[in-house]
Amino acid sequence: MPTNPYQALHKAIRHRLFAVGSQLGWTDFADANAVEELRRQFAGLCMFLEHHGEEEDSKIHPVLARLGPELLESMQEQHEEIDAELTELKAAFGQTTPDTAHAYYLRFLRFAAAYVLHTDDEERRVWPVLSALATPEELATMNDEDYGKSSPEGLGMMLGRVFPVLNPPERAEILGEIEAQVPPAFYAKVLENAGEQ
Ligand SMILES: [Fe+2]
Repeated sequence: MPTNPYQALHKAIRHRLFAVGSQLGWTDFADANAVEELRRQFAGLCMFLEHHGEEEDSKIHPVLARLGPELLESMQEQHEEIDAELTELKAAFGQTTPDTAHAYYLRFLRFAAAYVLHTDDEERRVWPVLSALATPEELATMNDEDYGKSSPEGLGMMLGRVFPVLNPPERAEILGEIEAQVPPAFYAKVLENAGEQ
């Protein structure tokens, strides 16, 4: 079975969506420090989602264009809807007050639910087509991560966020890929930074 390029990242995304949704639920919007902490977590999630969408568009969708054009069309539509709603959620965050906090919470959770269903479509409808029909080269491109391009600090931070939601074989697989690509000193620094999260 080829490596599913969606699996680990989608687990991490669902975890962050639920975490930020919960934080929105318990944040007092009259407390500036609590709102600032929430804003930081929300901004991190937005960056994660935006980067992830761009990666899927550039690495997975060109393969899907060949193997499942109708599926591609539906995934592109979903990406556009997600992007549009995320842009609006970002704009509305700064306007949220104690009076509108619950409405914002509900809107965010509706977005999170749609996002989870989107990842379900990708893993249950798109991945079976890709894993059955893509060439070994296409599968390699979809899973291609150039770890050497990141800093050990950035990579360690990403791992620190992703690892808590992965099972041991998934963690071992990612670590093995990183270790194979970067010098030992770089790898040691990545582990150090991942442990600090
Ligand atoms: Fe996607």
